[in-house]
Amino acid sequence: MNEPVVELDGITKRFGDVVANDRVELTVDRGSVHVLLGENGAGKTTLMNVLYGLYEPNEGEIRIDGTPREFDSPRDAIDAGIGMIHQHFMLVDPMTVADNVVLGNEPRSRLGFTVDREAAREAVTDLTARYGFDVEPDAVVEDLSVGVQQRVEILKALYRGADILILDEPTAVLTPQEVEELFDIFDELTDQGKTIIFITHKLGEALGVADAITVLRDGETVGTVDTSTTSKRELAELMVGREVLLDVEKPPSSPGDVGLEVSDLTVTDDRGVDQVSSLDFQIREGEVFGIAGVDGNGQSELVEAITGLDVPDEGRVYFDGADVTTDSRRDRIEQGMAYIPEDRQHRGLVMDFELLQNGLLGSQHDPDFAPGGRIDWATLRQHVEDIIADYDVRPPNPDATAKSLSGGNQQKLVAGREFERDPRVVVASHPTRGLDVGSVEFVQEKLVELRNEGKAVLLVSSKLDEVQQLSDRLGVMYEGAFTDVVDPDDVTEEQLGLLMAGQDADGVTSVPAGDFEAEAEVGR
Ligand SMILES: Nc1ncnc2c1ncn2[C@@H]1O[C@H](COP(=O)(O)OP(=O)(O)OP(=O)(O)O)[C@@H](O)[C@H]1O
Ligand SMILES: [Mg+2]
Repeated sequence: MNEPVVELDGITKRFGDVVANDRVELTVDRGSVHVLLGENGAGKTTLMNVLYGLYEPNEGEIRIDGTPREFDSPRDAIDAGIGMIHQHFMLVDPMTVADNVVLGNEPRSRLGFTVDREAAREAVTDLTARYGFDVEPDAVVEDLSVGVQQRVEILKALYRGADILILDEPTAVLTPQEVEELFDIFDELTDQGKTIIFITHKLGEALGVADAITVLRDGETVGTVDTSTTSKRELAELMVGREVLLDVEKPPSSPGDVGLEVSDLTVTDDRGVDQVSSLDFQIREGEVFGIAGVDGNGQSELVEAITGLDVPDEGRVYFDGADVTTDSRRDRIEQGMAYIPEDRQHRGLVMDFELLQNGLLGSQHDPDFAPGGRIDWATLRQHVEDIIADYDVRPPNPDATAKSLSGGNQQKLVAGREFERDPRVVVASHPTRGLDVGSVEFVQEKLVELRNEGKAVLLVSSKLDEVQQLSDRLGVMYEGAFTDVVDPDDVTEEQLGLLMAGQDADGVTSVPAGDFEAEAEVGR
């Protein structure tokens, strides 16, 4: 039964001085689900890119079904039965599912001049039936949810004959429901003899779905463990090399004046449909206000209106009582706003810039860094070096480009830059997405620290345990409005699930969304 299908033997991959993979050993059995775990920058993505033929290893051997193979390009890897689904999908949005699946390998009409679209549709229909996928071949990709787009990527790999599927953090962007569906697909695929290798930072997931788990640390293999004999705690320790607190500690809040207020806010999209609909809430200084919800229920639009990326159609946004609704992002930053965007690669960083320059973003007009309008590079360098040290950004090199960092390390840099602005209002959108357990612990502790220092913190996250643990009040968003605002200590995951689906949940006690002005006045 335990027949190795992939063997990576002594794989070393260097980028200049950085050793991303250091004599890595990995054996994956046919028909199994194998998880790769490791801290941000441990070398997981690099290793999978080596297996997929994107990078040539400096040393080591790849064996597929016992035969040594050399891959000069993904084409070679695909021919050997390997498929890879990247974290950022590579689909062509305006095209249909069927056209995307066959792209690059289109069935041709009899004379070979044109694509045989009927044959393409049929091939896709056969695949969806065979693996029990719920995907409509004629649907246009841009209309599909993230979860369904991911299934299209998987179909595409299967269409090209993949026996071994590699998925890099496939669940980071999925809702809990979509994660369940993906794991059902894994079951179906492994039942039919396919092998799955996937990367995740979520220990519960790894334990729930994997047959075996290999842990990497600093580019080296720490070991492979059998899922049935390990625990979250042991995995976390193997990854980080020390004990990790899996729960955040949070003292009771002592809220002050209202720091952020959203009043009767409405944001419509290009088609005139309300994405945020007459929303009202207040966050006091010293409070974390969490927003839970299935992605796409107005969270992004709300955050854009608060941070100045978009102007709302109606309603107002106030920082410390001052109306900032039409203020620019720069003005808002100067008034004390810190912002961790959901999309760090487009909004949080300039990927081709060095860490040094990325550390300046948003502070170009800050007299500390640009006295008299001229950038003080020495001060900036010191500041960026401090962030790198405090937030454990690896490799610790201010002159490296942002794009050369692993995903999690990019996120740590953004978090460090934003938190160290000494903000009054913090807007954090999925701040721990893509972070390893150690870094999640660190960023969550920072958010609690900012709250304890009296900042008003807005936390949007699709991780239910995160919003539940960190928030003082929790708004559940559905179709642009709150189904309810609740005390996170007093609500179950099932109740949250119902509220997230826009339904009533029996036995939930609501707390006020705002209206704290009178209270604060009395206290003065
Ligand atoms: N193209 C590149 N050029 C230079 N360095 C790179 C490149 N790709 C990766 N690295 C470095 O190699 C190391 C491993 O990165 P990798 O992306 O494999 O980590 P990872 O385990 O996938 O991390 P994460 O969990 O954050 O995604 C990191 O130090 C990273 O900075
Ligand atoms: Mg990675």
